[in-house]
Amino acid sequence: MKCNILIVGASGFLGNYAINFLLGKGYNSNSIIALVRDESKVQHFKNRGVTIRKADYNDPNSLTSSFIDIKKILFISSNDLHYRKTHHLNIVNAAKKSNVKFIAYTSFIRKHNSFEIPSHIDFIKETHIGTEKLLKESGIPHTILVNGLYCEGITNFFFNPLETVINTGVLSFPAGNGLINYTTREDLAEAAVNVVLNSDDYIGKTLYLNSKETHTLHDVADILCEITGKKIQYISPTAESYKQDLMNLGKEDGFISFSLAFALAMGDNEFYSCKSDLLTVLKRNPTSLKEFLSLYIKQNYEKQIN
Ligand SMILES: NC(=O)c1ccc[n+]([C@@H]2O[C@H](COP(=O)([O-])OP(=O)(O)OC[C@H]3O[C@@H](n4cnc5c(N)ncnc54)[C@H](OP(=O)(O)O)[C@@H]3O)[C@@H](O)[C@H]2O)c1
Repeated sequence: MKCNILIVGASGFLGNYAINFLLGKGYNSNSIIALVRDESKVQHFKNRGVTIRKADYNDPNSLTSSFIDIKKILFISSNDLHYRKTHHLNIVNAAKKSNVKFIAYTSFIRKHNSFEIPSHIDFIKETHIGTEKLLKESGIPHTILVNGLYCEGITNFFFNPLETVINTGVLSFPAGNGLINYTTREDLAEAAVNVVLNSDDYIGKTLYLNSKETHTLHDVADILCEITGKKIQYISPTAESYKQDLMNLGKEDGFISFSLAFALAMGDNEFYSCKSDLLTVLKRNPTSLKEFLSLYIKQNYEKQIN
C-alpha cells in the first residue's frame, strides 16, 4: 500500500507538473491528494483517479481536515504575497496537528540568508526564510528545496511578451549584467517529486535546485538570435527611465515596483548560485535555457513571428 502524498498548490503550474510526474512514475492515483480551493481547476486529475481535497490557506480548519491520513506533503509556496506569511503558518500548524511525517518545501534562491545587507527582494525572501524557520521549529522531518528563478520568467515576466521582444529586436530590462541560473518549472517539479518519493535520502537537507549554467540577459538575447535568426539586442535602461516607460504605458504602481525590484535584484546577482543539486536529484542533465526557449518559441510563436 502506497502512502498518501498531498500536493499543496495542486492547481498551479508546479503542482500540475508534480502530479503528472507522480502519475508518470506509476504512483497510485488515489494515494495522490491534490489540495485545491477550486475543484474545477483539477477536474483533469479527478478523471485520472487522483483524490481531490478542498481547502483554503486562509482557513486553518479546512487545512487540518484535508491533512487527515497524509504521510508526506509537497508544500508549494503560496503565490499571494500579501497573505503568504499567514498561509504558510496555517499550513505548517495543520501539518503538526495532523502528524504529517515529511514535508518538502519549495523555497526560493537568494544571495544572503540575513537582512543585514538590504536587497530589492527582501519582501519575497522574508516569508521563505520565515517558513524554513517554522519548519525547523515544527519538528516535522523536512527538506528545503531552494528553487532557482524560472526560465518561464523570460517568457512572461518582462513587461514585453517574448513575441514583442523578438519582433522588435529589443529586450529592455534594467537588470544590468546580473547572472541567473534559469531553471524550468518542469525540472523543479520532477526534482521535488523525486525528493518526496525518496524522502529518507533527503531529510534535514537544503537542496539547491537550480541549473548549473548561468546567463546574463545579453546571453538570453544571443540565444534568442540563434533560435530565431533575428537580430535581438539587450538594453539595460536606468531604473528611472524604465519606470517612466512603464508609467507611460499606463502600468499600475504595484506592477511597476514589483518589476523594478526583480530587475534590480537580477542585476545584483540575487538569483545567482554557485551551488547546484539539480543534476543529482534529477539523475539527468537539467533542461538548458536554449532547449527551453527553442521549445517555447516552437510551441507558441513560430507562426506569429514575422
Ligand atoms: N522560482 C521562481 O522563479 C518563481 C516565480 C514565481 C513564483 N514562484 C513561487 O513558486 C510557487 C509555485 O509556482 P507556480 O508557478 O506553481 O505558481 P502558481 O501557478 O501561481 O500556483 C500557486 C498556487 O497557490 C494556490 N493558492 C494561492 N492562494 C491560495 C489559497 N488561499 N488557498 C488555496 N490555494 C491557494 C493557487 O490556487 P488557485 O489556482 O486557486 O489560485 C495555486 O494552486 C508560487 O506560488 C510562488 O510562491 C517562484
